[in-house]
Amino acid sequence: MPTNAPADALEDFHDDGDTAEDFRKAVLNGLSQPQKRLPSKFFYDAKGSALFDRICTLEEYYPTRTETALLESCGKEIAVLAGPNANLIEFGSGSSVKTRILLDALDRLTAYVPIDISRDHLLAAAKTLAQDYPEVAVTPVCADFVQPLDLPKLAGTGVNLGFFPGSTIGNFRPADAAAFLKNAARAVGHGGAMVIGVDLVKDPATLHAAYNDASDVTAAFNLNLLERINRELDADFGLDGFAHYAPYNPARGCIEMHLVSRRAQQVRIAGKTFDFAIGETIHTEDSHKYTIEGFHELARRGGWTPREVWCDADSLFSVHFLDVA
Ligand code: AVI
Repeated sequence: MPTNAPADALEDFHDDGDTAEDFRKAVLNGLSQPQKRLPSKFFYDAKGSALFDRICTLEEYYPTRTETALLESCGKEIAVLAGPNANLIEFGSGSSVKTRILLDALDRLTAYVPIDISRDHLLAAAKTLAQDYPEVAVTPVCADFVQPLDLPKLAGTGVNLGFFPGSTIGNFRPADAAAFLKNAARAVGHGGAMVIGVDLVKDPATLHAAYNDASDVTAAFNLNLLERINRELDADFGLDGFAHYAPYNPARGCIEMHLVSRRAQQVRIAGKTFDFAIGETIHTEDSHKYTIEGFHELARRGGWTPREVWCDADSLFSVHFLDVA
């Protein structure tokens, strides 16, 4: 893993993120499939990350505020389960907003390792945290955390505690979610633990509203993927030629996010031409919802033992404490 020079107040910076060539290959490959698709991890360029931060503040998008309130109310219990002098390893840290709740609650936390694919966002958030928590060694790692991870050496003598909030686990297909959990168990090692946020199965209207907000922020987030391709891969997507479409599929237990071609059209991307029929979609994201039992089963398949679970009064969202099996 290449290591860059340490940035201000940071312990170190490990950069193993996607390159422009990785992005080009993924886009050309995804749009060559019979069901066109784009990996949802590419949503998070600077504009996409800012749009996602806005989604998290929307009235309709209940997961963020519900999980935040849950973490605030169970933070002390998490601290007791984790014990002192832990190393906190966050998978997909984004703006690290919820992290502060754990940083404040944990007993003498020694090190914090935020891992994220969005390099600039990661560095900005890590620098701010390093300044605000000078007693904690902050080492950001820019990487796709779905791949096997080499963690930097961590100074804490307590548990390696993974943190995977936001129900990002729901953006994996269940088989990939189990593979991620196995990777994460290997990364935190024997004796390790994890705090993970998981969105719950609920009435379809609530789910539909959360991904089809009245102010169209989620639509802008989805369409930004095409803008990003235009910007970075010399493409000519006309954004008015595609519509945001995010229905709940109860049989799969997930929100499926698509971009639907409003007309028959051709798009040039990195020197190649792609045909779109009217009504043809690009599948951009799945967001799986779980029952508590369903998630426990998945966690066991991924090499973890469920230890504790907290849920809000309306059963919208769950926070789990897992031990490496
Ligand atoms: C990051 N992830 C958990 C979000 C979700 O709810 O699946 C991404 C998102 N997509 C549309 N709105 C939010």
